[in-house]
Amino acid sequence: MIFIGYISLFYCKTFRVLIFLCIIKYRVSKMKEFKKIGILTGGGDCPGLNAVIRAVVKTAINDYGVDVIGFKDGYEGLVENKFLKLSYIAVSGILRQGGTILGTSNKADPFKYPVKKNGKIIYRDLSNRSIKNLKKNKLDALICVGGDGTLSIAYKLCKKGINIIGIPKTIDNDVNLTDATSGFDSALVVVTDAIDKLQTTAQSHHRVMIVEVMGRYAGWLGLHSGIAGGADVILIPEIPFDLKKIAQRVLERSKAGKRFSIIVVSEGAMPKGGEMVVKKLIKDSPDPIRLGGIGNYVSEQLEKMTGLEVRVTVLGHVQRGGAPTAYDRILATKFGSEAVRLIAEKKFGSMVALKGREIISVPIAEAIKTLKKVSPDSPLLKYARSVGTSFGDGD
Ligand code: F6P
Repeated sequence: MIFIGYISLFYCKTFRVLIFLCIIKYRVSKMKEFKKIGILTGGGDCPGLNAVIRAVVKTAINDYGVDVIGFKDGYEGLVENKFLKLSYIAVSGILRQGGTILGTSNKADPFKYPVKKNGKIIYRDLSNRSIKNLKKNKLDALICVGGDGTLSIAYKLCKKGINIIGIPKTIDNDVNLTDATSGFDSALVVVTDAIDKLQTTAQSHHRVMIVEVMGRYAGWLGLHSGIAGGADVILIPEIPFDLKKIAQRVLERSKAGKRFSIIVVSEGAMPKGGEMVVKKLIKDSPDPIRLGGIGNYVSEQLEKMTGLEVRVTVLGHVQRGGAPTAYDRILATKFGSEAVRLIAEKKFGSMVALKGREIISVPIAEAIKTLKKVSPDSPLLKYARSVGTSFGDGD
């Protein structure tokens, strides 16, 4: 009996040692395949970027023993070879910090890079210089964190043979093939909080309050915040509105004793047969159009049509600021960690994405084909209409 006991203990121990050796071998073999990776954050910033950077660096070091460098100011850092070494200490404590410790740029495109010549700005294709910098730094792969603009450039680099992995981030939530982008939830919380605050003052003064929110050509932020904030009217780019319908809803509420109304307007919303309101054009940006001003337009028209007092709040960049929400911190951690895993699996040209509750990978090429917009048969529209929200359309 004792003999059998000794034998099984021996095999059990040997078995454990074997397992341990296998794990070490597996890790070392992975380490051999990639030793150093880079990361950059491009386009407009948003909360959760630092949480992504932290997850990438910690996963790379803990799980693969790999070094990470971060290029500064998006693709500008790649072209100019400006970077910083991202050690464990460098990313410690940044989980809850808004913005990006790497800086970002929504102007720098290596394929159309602004350079000064004879006092004038001209655009040159410096993608080969970027590739040289990646090689000079002995990088095995590059993680590009961004929205559709950053990811489109990432795809072009990919086609030039660079090992790229994409991570979707933007408060607009308009990246295709992912249910959510990092940063969206945090912006949503900011807007919802603002609507709650505006509601109390709207009620006291019997006013119509218009809140103009960001989101570019997609109405995700307007739709979600409008529902969360209990807006009476939500105007989004995907549903062109009729001012008469909005006036009708506001007056109906007045007659029913509700002497105030809340209207959430996405910056890309437009009247039927009309166009989006462009606030300004940024000449040297790959996407030069900056939207804004639709809130004031709706306000002027509504005052004329209803005789009610209307006020406009344009939330602007406050929507991109501050600490990420718990949801965004978790999503960013999953995205960042999974991105490193995709490098280990050599799934280059992929973007991490959220599908339901799962983190999956999708081809960047597919993700950048089109912007994700609110579909006319989105269940959210149905639920919003069921609780009496107007979209300024036929209702
Ligand atoms: O894409 C994010 C975003 O905040 C949009 O919602 C907005 O239209 C745009 O960026 C504003 O850009 P900028 O920061 O260049 O003014």
